[in-house]
Amino acid sequence: MIAIVNTDPNWGIGKSNELQVRISKDLIRFKDLTLNKVIIYGSKTMQTYPKGRPLPNRTNIVLTRNRELIIEGAIVCYSLAELLDKVEQLKQEANLESEDFIVVGGAMIYEMLLPHCNKCYVTRIDQVLPADSFFPNLDQREDWELIEQSQWYHDLTNDLNYSFLTYRRK
Ligand SMILES: NC(=O)c1ccc[n+]([C@@H]2O[C@H](COP(=O)([O-])OP(=O)(O)OC[C@H]3O[C@@H](n4cnc5c(N)ncnc54)[C@H](OP(=O)(O)O)[C@@H]3O)[C@@H](O)[C@H]2O)c1
Repeated sequence: MIAIVNTDPNWGIGKSNELQVRISKDLIRFKDLTLNKVIIYGSKTMQTYPKGRPLPNRTNIVLTRNRELIIEGAIVCYSLAELLDKVEQLKQEANLESEDFIVVGGAMIYEMLLPHCNKCYVTRIDQVLPADSFFPNLDQREDWELIEQSQWYHDLTNDLNYSFLTYRRK
C-alpha cells in the first residue's frame, strides 16, 4: 500500500475533523494519484469529503466499527482483518497490485495501516498550523527514509510554501 498525506512541519494533519489547509494544486495532485485506484480511509475522513460521500471514479473502502453503517458507493470494512481480506480479494479478482491501494487518512487509519505501506507521498507545508490529528513522524522511524523532495512552491491563497516528499520503507 501507499499512503498520501498533507502535513505541517510537526506532522499535524487535521484540526476539528477538517484539513488544516486546502492547497488547490495539492488537491489536484491527490486526484491524479488516486483516480481509478482503491482508496482506504476512516469514517471520520469521509465526513470531510464533499457532501460527506465517497469520492467518484475510485474504489472507496471505508473503515468503521459501526456494523449498521452501509454506504452507497463504498465497500465498508468493520475491522483491520476484514480490510486485509478485502485487499487480497481485490488483488486477485481485479488483478491489482499493492501500489493500487492508497491509504488516505485520517490519523487512526494511517497509524493502523503504516505497517502495511511501503511508500508515503507527503505534501509538506512550511508553517505549523493548529492540529489535533497527526501522522506518524517518519523522520524518527528507523525503517523509513526520505528518498525524494521537490522544490518549494508558493500557494498564494493560503500564503504558504509547500513541497512534495517521497518516503520509502527501507
Ligand atoms: N492532511 C491529510 O492529508 C489528511 C487526510 C485525511 C484526513 N485528515 C484529517 O484527519 C482527521 C481525521 O482523523 P481521525 O483519526 O479522527 O479519523 P479517521 O482515521 O478518518 O477515522 C477514524 C474512524 O475509523 C474507524 N476505525 C478506526 N479503526 C478501525 C478499525 N480497526 N476497524 C474498523 N474501523 C476503524 C472508526 O470509525 P467509527 O467511529 O465509524 O466506528 C474511527 O472512528 C481530520 O482532521 C481529517 O481532516 C487529514
